[in-house]
Amino acid sequence: MKEINFDNGYFPVDSFEELETPFYYYDLNLLNLTLKAIKSATADARNFMVHYAVKANANHILLQTIGEAGLGADCVSGGEIEAALEAGIPHDKIVYTGVGKTDKEINIGLDNDIYCFNIESVEELEVINALAKAKDKKARIAIRINPEIGAHTHANITTGLAENKFGIAMADIDRVIDLAESTEYIEFIGLHFHIGSQILDMDDFKGLCDRINDITSHLESRGILISDINVGGGLGIDYEDPDNHPIPDFEKYFAVYRENLRLRPEQTLHFELGRAVVGQCGSLISRVVYVKQGSLTKFAILDAGMTDLIRPALYQAHHLIQNISSRSREMERYDVVGPICESSDIFGKDILLPLTRRGDFIAIRSAGAYGEVMASCYNCRPLPGAVYSE
Ligand code: LLP
Repeated sequence: MKEINFDNGYFPVDSFEELETPFYYYDLNLLNLTLKAIKSATADARNFMVHYAVKANANHILLQTIGEAGLGADCVSGGEIEAALEAGIPHDKIVYTGVGKTDKEINIGLDNDIYCFNIESVEELEVINALAKAKDKKARIAIRINPEIGAHTHANITTGLAENKFGIAMADIDRVIDLAESTEYIEFIGLHFHIGSQILDMDDFKGLCDRINDITSHLESRGILISDINVGGGLGIDYEDPDNHPIPDFEKYFAVYRENLRLRPEQTLHFELGRAVVGQCGSLISRVVYVKQGSLTKFAILDAGMTDLIRPALYQAHHLIQNISSRSREMERYDVVGPICESSDIFGKDILLPLTRRGDFIAIRSAGAYGEVMASCYNCRPLPGAVYSE
C-alpha cells in the first residue's frame, strides 16, 4: 500500500503529548482510500448502491466524508436517520432496518421521505401503514427475510439463523408479500437480507446469493417482479495485520455478487457495509497509567477501558496492540488491561511489547468500527474524544 506509510511515524505521537487520553485517532486519508476502493470496485455496476451502516460509527466527520463519497446510509434508529441527514446524506439514499421501530422513529422516516423501510414483522407493516395513512403518504418497504443460513463468525454477530430475532421466516414469505402488496399505504419494492458480520469466507456470501436466486425464481413463477434486493453487509477486516491489509478486498467481495446473483437489468442491488468501510481507519490511543507486577504476570494498566472499546470484553475480539512511544529494543510480555472494575476489562493477554513504562502511548488498532459508537459512561467515565489525521 504505497499511499499509506505504516512505519514508526504513522502515529504523530509528538502531537499526542498535549492531548487528554484516551481518544480515537482517525486516519482520514485511509478512509478516503477505502471509499475510493469501494467506488472503483463498483464503477462498472450502475445498479449497485452502497449504504454505509451508520451503526458501525456515527462520528459526524466520518459520516460527512462517507456521504461526500456518494454512499447512502443504512440506519437502525430514528437517531441514526437524523445523524445521516445532518451529515448531508440525501434522504433518498437512506434505508431503515430494525426489529423494534417505534412510532416516533417511523414518523422520522416518513417525514423525511427515506428510500425504504426494511420491515421485520407483519405487526410492523401494519403500524407503518397506519402512520403513513395519517400523513396520506405511501411508505416504500422491503421485506427482511431471515435466510436461515449461518456465517462463519462469532455467535453474537450472526443474524441469519432461524433462531435469531431478525426478519420474516422463509415459510412466511408468500403470505407477507401478498399482504404488503394489498396494503393501501405501502409500496412493496423488494427483499432485504443480512447474514452476519466480520465475514471473511466469501462462500458465505455465495450461499446467500444461491438462497436469493431460489426466492426470486419462486416469486417470478408467481408473477412477482421486485425492483430492489438488499444483501446487507458483513464483509470483515484483518484484525491481525491491519498494516498489510488496511483496505478490504472489495473487488473480490462485489465479484461474488456480480458472478452469483441473478440480477435483472432493471433491479438495484443494495449493500449495507459498516465495518469494512471504517474499521481500519480508527485506533484507540491511550496512556499507560501503571505497570504493575502481579503474582503471575506483568500488567500494563491503561487509561482506556472496556467503556471506550468493548469488543474484546464482549466478543473476545482480538485487536492489535502497539506501544507507539517506547524506543526500547528490549521486549516483554504484558496483560494489557483497563481501569474498570470488571475482570473482563482486558484488551489482550500475554502481549509482546517493547519495554513499557508509565506515560507510554498505546494504540489499539482496527477500532474504527463498533468502537467509539459503543462507548459508555459506566463508572462515571467521560466518553473518549476524537482526533483526526488532517
Ligand atoms: N445491515 C444490518 C441489517 C446489520 O445488522 C448490520 C450489522 C450491518 C448491515 C453492518 O454489518 P457490517 O458490514 O458492519 O458487518 N458490534 C459488533 C457487530 C454488530 C453488527 C450488527 N449488525 C462487533 O463489534 O463486532
